[in-house]
Amino acid sequence: MLDLNFDPFPIIETDRLILRRTESEDARDYFALRSSPEAMKHICKPLHKSIDDTIKMIDNINEMISTNEGISWAVCFKSDHKMIGSVSFHRIEKEHYRAEIGYMLHPKFWQQGIVSEAVKAIIDYGFKILNLHSIEAHIDPTNVGSEKVLQKFKFEKEAYFKENYFYDGQFLDTAVYSLLHNS
Ligand SMILES: CC(C)(COP(=O)(O)OP(=O)(O)OC[C@H]1O[C@@H](n2cnc3c(N)ncnc32)[C@H](O)[C@@H]1OP(=O)(O)O)[C@@H](O)C(=O)NCCC(=O)NCCS
Repeated sequence: MLDLNFDPFPIIETDRLILRRTESEDARDYFALRSSPEAMKHICKPLHKSIDDTIKMIDNINEMISTNEGISWAVCFKSDHKMIGSVSFHRIEKEHYRAEIGYMLHPKFWQQGIVSEAVKAIIDYGFKILNLHSIEAHIDPTNVGSEKVLQKFKFEKEAYFKENYFYDGQFLDTAVYSLLHNS
């Protein structure tokens, strides 16, 4: 069974980025992401309507971290530490040494290799530091960008669930990808 402890919070640095804890001061920048129809197109969760929705979400994230149930990082450029995206292991199955990865970025910064840089760093952290055995990702099969990110890191498509997710009056499909440690 995995024994996780996110205290102190693991700050991760890459060439261009710093991955740090999400703070209440990030609410405006995070709201810009979670209220953007473009960024949320494939996420299938309600768009944030007000900053209060985002503050609640940040509280939930920090509760998840302080109880060591999961972790989410604010993605920032090192130059200004302003939140432009997030990466996470938001669901961790400790008994199976397995975590679900998530990532999103403000559309202004898409296609510059930023999510790849952040995802590479947390995959390394997940396998080397957390001692995960596998990482999974659940995506909307029409989310080409997300699929490309997963393929880049050699995730394999292992399942395709037809109409397993009910959202906004529709039954939607889900593709499940996974990556094994040392595969
Ligand atoms: C999907 C997403 C995370 C990609 O982030 P990104 O920083 O633009 O990705 P990168 O620049 O690291 O690109 C990685 C690869 O995917 C490709 N790619 C990224 N977005 C793409 C798109 N929309 N269409 C086709 N290819 C795309 C890039 O060209 C790159 O390929 P390469 O390494 O062969 O050059 C980003 O578009 C996003 O945040 N979308 C909204 C949130 C979301 O859908 N999250 C995933 C939920 S499962």
